[in-house]
Amino acid sequence: MTSPASLPEHVAIIMDGNGRWALRQGRPRTDGHEAGSDALKRTIETALKYRIRILTVYAFSSENWSRPKSEVRKLLELFLRALNREVRELDEHGVRIRFVGDRSAFNPALRDGMARAEKRTRDNSALLLNVAVNYGGHADIAGAARRLAEAVARDELDSKQIDADRLGAELALGDQIPPDLFIRTGGEMRLSNFLLWELAYTELYFTEVLWPDFDGGDFEAALDDYARRERRFGGLGEVKHA
Ligand code: FPP
Repeated sequence: MTSPASLPEHVAIIMDGNGRWALRQGRPRTDGHEAGSDALKRTIETALKYRIRILTVYAFSSENWSRPKSEVRKLLELFLRALNREVRELDEHGVRIRFVGDRSAFNPALRDGMARAEKRTRDNSALLLNVAVNYGGHADIAGAARRLAEAVARDELDSKQIDADRLGAELALGDQIPPDLFIRTGGEMRLSNFLLWELAYTELYFTEVLWPDFDGGDFEAALDDYARRERRFGGLGEVKHA
């Protein structure tokens, strides 16, 4: 396995392929989400094993509301069940849970479960788990711009002070380092409105593996691939130049 120095500190994941996994087995799509929640558990275990500091997962995009009502309802029920079932164990393992995205559209039971999970785990430091729910990158950036504009209108901020650092700090993950490694399962090669700002210099890794099949070995394959990348952040890295 890779040396600790070449491990990413922050990994972001689009957990895609639940529906196809279920359909291939002649089962309802929601069974795929159930199996997907087991895959998330395994992934958290692997992240803890490699002392990855931050794991950010896309659980529900702002576009997911357009799915059939029954699938959305089952998905939200699954979130609540998984929360109630797993929070104690996550807490025992030192995982801090944070939800990012607009939770105002969720029912009170789910909002309450989210708030309780965040409160219970807020002092943990082994792993920060950001769960993106009803999240969209465009909306996140637009919200940050709006808050800065409001601060200018209140005369609390000079518009000349607005730069990339200032705007980035207003985003949902503004207090965290950006992802070093992005993983998308399920074979699609796009970002789907996830962390658009934060992924500017992130190493991207795509795999055909469907999310419910994603296991420790698949995660390690992504970590190995990351360790072989040369990150230059727009510079020239080790390349000699005149
Ligand atoms: C994408 O698969 C997955 C989702 C929209 C939901 C992700 C949810 C989980 C992995 C469940 C566990 C999460 C928590 C927080 C308990 P898809 O349905 O788009 O699959 P498809 O591309 O094959 O149709």
